[in-house]
Parts: sequence; structure tokens; C-alpha cells
Amino acid sequence: MPKPWTIRPLVADDVEAFMDLQKRLVQESGREGSNIFTPLEAWDETRAHRQRATLPEKLRTALEQSGWYRLFGLFVEDKLAGESSLRCGELPTERHRATLGISLDQTVRGQGLGRRLMEYTIDWAVNETSVDWIDLYVFEHNTPARGLYDGLGFTQIGRTSDRFRTFDKRITDLHMVLDCAQRRANSSD
Ligand SMILES: CC(C)(COP(=O)(O)OP(=O)(O)OC[C@H]1O[C@@H](n2cnc3c(N)ncnc32)[C@H](O)[C@@H]1OP(=O)(O)O)[C@@H](O)C(=O)NCCC(=O)NCCS
Repeated sequence: MPKPWTIRPLVADDVEAFMDLQKRLVQESGREGSNIFTPLEAWDETRAHRQRATLPEKLRTALEQSGWYRLFGLFVEDKLAGESSLRCGELPTERHRATLGISLDQTVRGQGLGRRLMEYTIDWAVNETSVDWIDLYVFEHNTPARGLYDGLGFTQIGRTSDRFRTFDKRITDLHMVLDCAQRRANSSD
């Protein structure tokens, strides 16, 4: 770990830095030989504007309600360099599941920080919520991300070929899950 880093939940004041990070990531994916890791082909300022307006309130939604959303930030030398997200579905009948996403700036990858951010996010879900399952979706060709998820105990339960068509490619998407209820039970043993 060459540089000082820290991980913490993001709050409304972090939204601008979060949007800047999203923009860097969208503008990297699929370009200049980079891995394609998002279905977004270009930065959409209208969509970003909507997100900026709605994010602060979403981050405050009580965890007892459905539809809550939380972001966690990886700060390297005090700059937001990675984010993970957990999104609970909108229906009361899906309150026991949350969908996870993660992305780091190119400059800080491959140093073990993605794993640290995943571990933080999973621990938070296990300890602070009643979520029993974490879902995630990953492109089949995304070897680094799949290595990370496999190593943390996620198992593949679905595969959708031709899920997205982007940069003239047909993208196969994998659905993976982590059994949080099992983790919770193991940690209270
Ligand atoms: C996927 C991502 C979050 C991984 O974070 P990271 O900090 O680079 O990964 P780490 O250094 O913590 O490595 C964790 C594991 O990931 C895998 N991994 C990381 N980089 C890898 C690479 N270049 N090739 C193969 N596996 C790799 C390994 O299994 C590694 O475990 P190990 O350290 O025991 O070998 C990061 O590369 C990233 O943000 N990529 C771009 C965005 C993205 O793909 N997001 C996921 C969308 S589903």
C-alpha cells in the first residue's frame, strides 16, 4: 500500500467528487484499449444532473425502508479514487436483497484496494442491514473484477448473453450472489 488511504460512507457533500469519478470511469471504459466495464458509452450530462439532484436524499433513506441506497468511498491521499454502492430494491418484498457495484480509478488498481473496499462494503451490509443476499452483475470478459468477486465468495447464478451491445461488441453479463445471512450466522458463532 504505497499511499495513505481510507474508506468511509459517502454523504451529500461528496456527491460532486462522486460524479467526477463516475465521469472519469465512463470516459475510460472501452477506450484506448481499456477494458469495457460499464454499459454507459458516453457521459450523459442530463442524466448526471438528475443524479446530482436525487442522490443526497437517496443516501438518507432509512435502512428499514425499501429503496435505500448507500455509497462508500475509497480516498487515496484525501482524493476520492474509488466507490462502491449498495442499492436496495424499491419493493417491500425485495428488502432482503441489495445490489452491489464497485469501481476504482485506473491509477489505484491492482494494489489490493478494491478488495479492501469490497470487504468494507460487505461487512457494512452484514452488520448494519438486514439484507440476506448481495447481488452483483459483471461482464463475462472482466477478468480482474471476476477474480475479486470469486475470491470473496460470490457465486455465479446467471448468465445473459447479448445483454448489452456496446463498442460493436455483444456483451455477456453474469449475475453473482453472496449469502449475507450465512456470513452473519458465521460471525455470531
Ligand atoms: C475490478 C476492480 C474493482 C478490482 O480492484 P483492484 O484494486 O484492482 O483489485 P485488487 O488489487 O484489490 O485485487 C483483488 C483481486 O482482484 C483480481 N484482480 C485484480 N486485478 C487483476 C488483474 N489485472 N487481472 C486478474 N485479476 C485481477 C485478483 O483476483 C485479485 O486478487 P489477488 O490480489 O489475491 O490476486 C478494479 O480493477 C476496477 O475498478 N476496475 C474497473 C471498473 C470495474 O471493472 N468495475 C467492476 C464492474 S462489475
